[in-house]
Amino acid sequence: MTSIADLPTPALLVDLDRLERNIARMAAAFAGAGVGLRPHTKTSKCLEVVRRQLDAGALGMTCSTPAEVAWLQAAGVTDLLWAHAPVGPPKVAFVIDAVRRGGLTVALDSEEAAAPLSAAASAAGVTVPFVLEINTGHARLGVDPERVPQVAARLAARPGLRLRGLLTHEGHLATQPDRPTLEAAGRTAGELMARLAAGLRADGHAMEVVSVGSTPGATSTPFAAGVTEGRPGTYVYFDANQMRLGSCTIDDCALTVLARVVSVQRAGRPIIDAGIKAMSSDTIAAAGSVGLVDRPGVAFVDANEEHGFLADAGDRPLVVGDLVRIIPNHACGTTNMWSHLYAVRGDQVVERWEISARY
Ligand SMILES: Cc1ncc(COP(=O)(O)O)c(C=O)c1O
Repeated sequence: MTSIADLPTPALLVDLDRLERNIARMAAAFAGAGVGLRPHTKTSKCLEVVRRQLDAGALGMTCSTPAEVAWLQAAGVTDLLWAHAPVGPPKVAFVIDAVRRGGLTVALDSEEAAAPLSAAASAAGVTVPFVLEINTGHARLGVDPERVPQVAARLAARPGLRLRGLLTHEGHLATQPDRPTLEAAGRTAGELMARLAAGLRADGHAMEVVSVGSTPGATSTPFAAGVTEGRPGTYVYFDANQMRLGSCTIDDCALTVLARVVSVQRAGRPIIDAGIKAMSSDTIAAAGSVGLVDRPGVAFVDANEEHGFLADAGDRPLVVGDLVRIIPNHACGTTNMWSHLYAVRGDQVVERWEISARY
């Protein structure tokens, strides 16, 4: 077996023990509450990770791009939710093909988005199952709550479309000032979704899916009575940003970038061979951090494309050739920078896994 120390650097590593624990814990929390778990695949884009999530009981996967949908369909994953907007002729045509292959539900939030899809579906003789996306506070996609009955009725009446329920991404939880406020906002978002679904049910709509989803909200939003499924994604690896939000501890972070010190021309300022093309450009501005280094007293303070700038105030200064492991600020953005990663147990490399469906 190869040791981590023998890998070329930089390298993306996933700690298998932590990965398996994260998957098992989230699966147990959802199963215990009788809520479905539909992890977002964007975090790993890796079949070996997806298979472990499905084996642990996930009812299906969430996707953000056509490439993710096509890749998972080709891999035989049959229950997919595409939680983005199928707008523009290529995406409309893609949906028709993907619905024909089976097992896809899409999200819609307007008549403008629904009309071309409805026309294409009718022409093709297919019915596209969809969930109506709701804005519960993130103000990205999603119908504002007061307009939901009217928009739902209009979209449900369109030929070629079948309303299955509601969806929200409670992304505003990431901007709450502290964990108790975050938890309360998460519960509020879940309760709002359940209330809206109950209202639509009373209006005669099928509401078999009430889908919420985020990692900060994974301890609150899905557990409001009436929510049927949650879609956390980042939990599978966690990251420095989720630590900051109180979603995990450092010992839960499964994804790291392995890098090597390549130069120390200025005392206390080692340079490593991992920059933004290894980490992504997601910084934690408040902490002035490009990622969390596994050495006391060492901070990752800046990055060019292939060079990382460390500030070393540790007891044993880093020297040229030293290895460091860095927890990314944002696991999903980091994944998208890489074509493969190494699955490791302790210091040993177990397997090399492909990362698929990137741009
Ligand atoms: C629509 C949707 N669902 C689920 C998620 C998963 O959230 P998280 O990355 O916090 O796990 C995201 C993340 O961006 C999302 O956009």
